[in-house]
Amino acid sequence: MKKHIFFALLISSSLFADERLQNHQKAAEIFTNWHFFENGRGMTISPNLSKFMWMLGEDRQNKSDPVTNFIEKRYGFIVKDDKLMGVFNVKYKNMNVGVLGCTACHSGKAAGVFVPGLGNKTIDPYKVGRDTYRIQKYWGWGNRNPDYKYIHEKAMYFSKVTSDTKISSLTRGLVPDSTIKTFFYKDHGIDYPKDMGRAQVKAPHLWGIKQKREAGVFNDGALSGDSYAWIFGAELFASDSGEHLRAVLPKIKWLTDEVLGNLLPPKYPFKIDNNRVNRGKELFSNACLKCHGAHDTDTNGYPIFTAPKVIPKHVVKTDEEKLNAISPEFVRLVETSSLGDILGIKHENVQKGYFAPKLWGIWSRFPYMHNASIPSLYQVMIKPEKRSIIFSMYEAGEEYRFDKENVGLTLFEKNEYKTKLIKAKKGDRDIYYIEREGQSNQGHYFEDKFGSLSHQDRLDIIEYLKTL
Ligand code: HEC
Ligand code: HEC
Repeated sequence: MKKHIFFALLISSSLFADERLQNHQKAAEIFTNWHFFENGRGMTISPNLSKFMWMLGEDRQNKSDPVTNFIEKRYGFIVKDDKLMGVFNVKYKNMNVGVLGCTACHSGKAAGVFVPGLGNKTIDPYKVGRDTYRIQKYWGWGNRNPDYKYIHEKAMYFSKVTSDTKISSLTRGLVPDSTIKTFFYKDHGIDYPKDMGRAQVKAPHLWGIKQKREAGVFNDGALSGDSYAWIFGAELFASDSGEHLRAVLPKIKWLTDEVLGNLLPPKYPFKIDNNRVNRGKELFSNACLKCHGAHDTDTNGYPIFTAPKVIPKHVVKTDEEKLNAISPEFVRLVETSSLGDILGIKHENVQKGYFAPKLWGIWSRFPYMHNASIPSLYQVMIKPEKRSIIFSMYEAGEEYRFDKENVGLTLFEKNEYKTKLIKAKKGDRDIYYIEREGQSNQGHYFEDKFGSLSHQDRLDIIEYLKTL
């Protein structure tokens, strides 16, 4: 009898252990197939333009499809099982509509591992916008079908804003929040100002968002997560009106809590030196815990997600361009817009600082900081003037680009450095260059906490971080 109870307990606890993993797998499946296209609204390209992508893509037998490869390399989309992530072909009123989904930005690769819910490190929205704008201009010229025209004109606007050199990102792997801002000017019937800045950020990881939402969304918490509506942010300016958001809001709530809320961080795929983890954890308690908080796990070792807190900008001292984007003028535009009732502002967080994010799955989230300005975990803990001023974003998620010792991106070799720096200065979009607007790598160095860390201490902290 006792034996039975023992086995029943054993089975139920392992079932429970599997439950989070199973929920994660289900969530990953749903999310990678997700988009918000409905009634012609959404992030789309011109109707039937997608056909040429699928012409070669559909029913292909061999792996190396040239169109998919080209799109992967040029625009930085993630390819998994020969499929472009976050790119869909939707049949709508006898048309093939190419639709962009959330995972174009919110799935990524790290050390060659595909991770649903990780930010895409390589995507270049500017190049996508510029090229589609040029092609669409001539595509379907003279087509008078109103359904066609409706989508085509929106797609033209979407690609035009994305490729506006005054507000777009300057480096691949960075997404400009400025494009979201354009929605509110359009909503008020005014042209957006060309000098409003770019507000370039890396696409964030999404595990733990269910708990984070309560403290505010995006990397500064200035936008309220209460109504969930900001989570639609990236889609807003691509749609013709706020009605699209109202229509899909219930689905966004469900997606955030029931799908994204079940995502787990990826496990570190290489060896971890367990002897050093405990020491690293202790050092973390002294140097990092005050801001980043605890990272407790349940009995099966899965994260207990909690909300992060905002650290004032005069303390963290990282690049402020993103914070300045939430200007008083912008706040006013939001609050008086047609969506003012559901897009809330957390006034106490406006231009205050950045979240000290929870560090679950941090090994995979390089390059680090909201603007992706620090290439490795090791460099996060050293003085800004000792950090790399250039590094490559090309194929940043591939295994050959992963530096296991410093945990993050590999750097340029000495013999190529000079030529790469020249390219960086000329604006090469594959190279991250800290002198570009919004891309400063200053800050996140706290003398009182980091000053006494030795080389070995930093490596031990990294060993602990690998377990998160
Ligand atoms: C063009 C790229 C892109 C697309 C497409 C996109 N997002 Fe995002 N998303 C971002 C970026 C960049 C941020 C971070 C903005 C910031 O913090 O300033 C973000 C933020 C978020 C956040 C808040 C994360 C946090 O930590 O507060 C959620 C949730 C989210 N997106 C969900 C979605 C969903 C759902 C979709 C599909 C409807 C989607 N995103 C489509 C780029 C994108
Ligand atoms: C004084 C508060 C504070 C302390 C102490 C602190 N951090 Fe941070 N940390 C932050 C803030 C705020 C950010 C976000 C800054 C930004 O994105 O601009 C951050 C960001 C990070 C990131 C980048 C996260 C990402 O998603 O890119 C890492 C990694 C990190 N911290 C690790 C550490 C480690 C390791 C320690 C201890 C050795 C530490 N931090 C100590 C406040 C702190």
